[in-house]
Amino acid sequence: MHTYVPILCAAMLAGAAAFAAEPARQKVILDTDMVEGFDDGVAMLLLANSPAIDLIGVTTVAGNTWAQEGVAYALRQLEVQGRPVPVFEGALRPLRPGRQDMLDAERALCGMGHDSWVGCFGTEEPDSWQAVYRERYGEEPSSQPDDRHAVEFIIDAVRANPHQVTIAAVGPCTNLALALRQAPDIAPLIKRVVYMGGSFFKPGNVTPAAEFNWWFDPEAARIAVRAPIPEQIVFGLDVCEKLTLKAADFHTLLDVVDKPYADLLRTTFLGGNFLGDPDHTFFIWDVLVAAMLLDESLITEEVTHPIDINDSFGLSYGQSLAYPGHGPAGSKPARIVLTIDEERFWAIVLDPASWKR
Ligand code: RIB
Ligand code: CA
Repeated sequence: MHTYVPILCAAMLAGAAAFAAEPARQKVILDTDMVEGFDDGVAMLLLANSPAIDLIGVTTVAGNTWAQEGVAYALRQLEVQGRPVPVFEGALRPLRPGRQDMLDAERALCGMGHDSWVGCFGTEEPDSWQAVYRERYGEEPSSQPDDRHAVEFIIDAVRANPHQVTIAAVGPCTNLALALRQAPDIAPLIKRVVYMGGSFFKPGNVTPAAEFNWWFDPEAARIAVRAPIPEQIVFGLDVCEKLTLKAADFHTLLDVVDKPYADLLRTTFLGGNFLGDPDHTFFIWDVLVAAMLLDESLITEEVTHPIDINDSFGLSYGQSLAYPGHGPAGSKPARIVLTIDEERFWAIVLDPASWKR
């Protein structure tokens, strides 16, 4: 009897120590206009595989790609990585009715920035995610998205995990805005939103005034950044356009990821560009958000200001504004990231030891 007590105590202490040593994993929802590989796909690679992150869901939204395409691309990339993260189809179009039909008029009115990219507005909407999957991969999917709509999932997940969920909003903010409109109670229950969006101290990309994600759905971005969310961190073009992916980095990534994912990356549009042109470079916006979630100390320079988005349909439609003085009534403060530690960023992205289980 006496011998069992110390053994039992030692076992309990060891169990407690093991339990105490287990770091809490950050719950993250990746809200994305998903593409294969760079940039949304590689952001998902880091988050889905990192032992520090509990990626509780991937929600797709129209932006770079149609939300249906986003589902197909998210499922396929998770399948080849063997990471069964739930995927949810989200908003099929932005909040402003007829936004896509007004594109020509908008271009005539607002002109264009250094990037003529209009995302999914430049392609035909697919019939379904299944149609995209079959056409792109030539076979049936081995996984399915969840039945719930992305907006419903965001609301449920935040309510079920109060003050614990980080939303990485790396596409247009339509899903987030719809969730906040439908369930305003979730705003203070979200832990934080980390956006890739906007451009505060330099020109936009789609127009001189606006960055793509927040240009695609300015009304939604305005609802999101004005909500009483405890913390908002913004990776705009201010920081994202400081870093470019070079062909050598792309080749390193091909060498370090598992073969099925490397094979997929090679067949993407961007992969073709890198394989065909050793001087090709590309911005990798959303990957900065994912890397920062793995290591917040990557941020080396930031400012905090109230921010807002111009959602009046005119010359500066979609412009993001930071107010060094006080902001307009209803605006909320956000941390605007200006610089990250580039060397450590690449060390994270290109070394699976930093993000692989
Ligand atoms: O403007 C860059 C942003 O637009 C990135 O999130 C990119 O993935 C696209 O969504
Ligand atoms: Ca994106």
